[in-house]
Amino acid sequence: MKHNERSMTPAPYSDTVFNDDALAGLARIPDASIDLIIADPPYSLGKDYGNESDKRSDADYLQWMEKWVDAALPKLKSNGSFYIFLTWRFAPEIFVMLKQRLQMVNEIIWDRRVPSMGGSVRSFTSVHDTIGFFVKGKGYYFDLDSVRIPYDAETKKARSRSLFVGAKWLEVGYNPKDLWSVSRVHKCDPERADHPTQKPLEIIDRMIYASCPPGGMVLDPFMGSGTTAVSARRCGRHFVGFELNPDYCDIIRARLQTPYAQRMENNNQPSEPVRPKVPKKISA
Ligand SMILES: C[S@@+](CC[C@H](N)C(=O)[O-])C[C@H]1O[C@@H](n2cnc3c(N)ncnc32)[C@H](O)[C@@H]1O
Repeated sequence: MKHNERSMTPAPYSDTVFNDDALAGLARIPDASIDLIIADPPYSLGKDYGNESDKRSDADYLQWMEKWVDAALPKLKSNGSFYIFLTWRFAPEIFVMLKQRLQMVNEIIWDRRVPSMGGSVRSFTSVHDTIGFFVKGKGYYFDLDSVRIPYDAETKKARSRSLFVGAKWLEVGYNPKDLWSVSRVHKCDPERADHPTQKPLEIIDRMIYASCPPGGMVLDPFMGSGTTAVSARRCGRHFVGFELNPDYCDIIRARLQTPYAQRMENNNQPSEPVRPKVPKKISA
């Protein structure tokens, strides 16, 4: 991080979600002041967010994506990171655009754990979202230990060969892979808010622990139901963001009062299956 990038006094916009257009809001954020940007823009699939934001033509959509990206990136510190949620339909074009501006670290596949129920008869059923993880430069902040996945007792026992004894990865857990298998937030889930594309807290928590230092600042230009705000608060980070729909801003305010937004210990217990159980062989 450059010497002049650290500020000890909380910014006036800290822990605020503005009912505003992202482009207008970003103009008020100082350059090089943000540790992590988590962006979950409309996917251009025609969803109803109470506005026309997801109903652009393909060309308009790609142009708009470039416009807000160019307004957002100067806000990142030199060791900052940028995650973006996308659909496979536009990820190729948007990754090319982003790779001209940032270094790409990962393409993460979010497997939404959609149950198998019919689906298209002319294609394979799409059950994932694409997440791009980009950074400004080589010295980016990344706290792997805070997101390691602990091995269960059975796996530890299975790796008891002397070669592995004392191996750090066996004791502290492994590095999450680039396939994140986390259930989407069901209508009956207590975490669920009244928003059509709410993301699971588990996913955003992992991004924040890994890519924003404690006490740092996370920016989300498209807050939706406020998952990034809730996650930042419970992980001990600050947040700022924008949302066009005033009803969603009310939802965010309400979510920030729930137990989900209470400061929590990082217990690294992901819901994804750690290791599939191998069925016991039946003796003949
Ligand atoms: C995919 S959703 C975000 C969902 C969010 N990550 C969550 O977990 O709830 C995108 C949101 O961006 C909002 N939006 C669309 N265009 C916007 C703009 N120009 N400025 C600010 N918000 C915008 C939409 O109203 C919608 O709520």
